[in-house]
Amino acid sequence: MKKLNGKSVDVREMVLEDLAAVYALGEAVFTADKWPSLYRTWDEYEPVSLFLSDGQFCFVAERDGRLAGFALGSLIDKRNSAWSYGYLTWLAVDPGFKRGGVATRLIAAITDAFIDAGARMMIADTDADNAVAIRLFHKNGFLREERHVYLSKNLVQHPRYRGLRKKKEKDKEKEKPKVGLRGARSKKKP
Ligand SMILES: CC(C)(COP(=O)(O)OP(=O)(O)OC[C@H]1O[C@@H](n2cnc3c(N)ncnc32)[C@H](O)[C@@H]1OP(=O)(O)O)[C@@H](O)C(=O)NCCC(=O)NCCS
Repeated sequence: MKKLNGKSVDVREMVLEDLAAVYALGEAVFTADKWPSLYRTWDEYEPVSLFLSDGQFCFVAERDGRLAGFALGSLIDKRNSAWSYGYLTWLAVDPGFKRGGVATRLIAAITDAFIDAGARMMIADTDADNAVAIRLFHKNGFLREERHVYLSKNLVQHPRYRGLRKKKEKDKEKEKPKVGLRGARSKKKP
């Protein structure tokens, strides 16, 4: 076990009481410009839903009750395939604990859990610019790097989007209470 400032960090399965601290650390670490992936954004539902659906693949590292990092993952069973994949979905380490081997230990813990659950392959992903994470993954045996291209399409100019928007505006207009002359009078003279 690596030691940070002479004190060891413990890695254990996440429990319900960790949720708030895990969410807060994710909020601090996964900033908009450093989102690990384009198709997942960090919000309160991420740790909650992963904890509820795949709790055995959620780990935290702590020292003296302070959260040092977390690894959250899930098991993916592909249809028509005998293989199940362990997906390391979120990994974060508190800046105060960085470069102390915390992520490495979290990866080791979640790897064991995936193997115990029958996974034959593990997947991790991150932004192509996240050189630190890519180095960490390489060092931990993630080697078969595959490039993936994300494209986006702005839907705001799409006729269906514009039509829907117009309809919503009209509906809103209809919902507004009509305060006319008659309404005003009747208020004064009940
Ligand atoms: C990426 C991250 C999880 C690494 O956590 P960590 O606990 O500092 O990592 P470790 O101490 O286990 O580092 C293991 C190896 O990764 C590489 N590495 C880690 N931090 C590095 C850095 N700042 N610069 C270069 N290499 C680095 C090194 O190869 C290191 O081994 P070494 O220290 O023996 O050279 C952490 O920096 C982080 O939370 N980043 C923001 C969130 C993120 O990008 N998550 C990953 C995608 S979900």
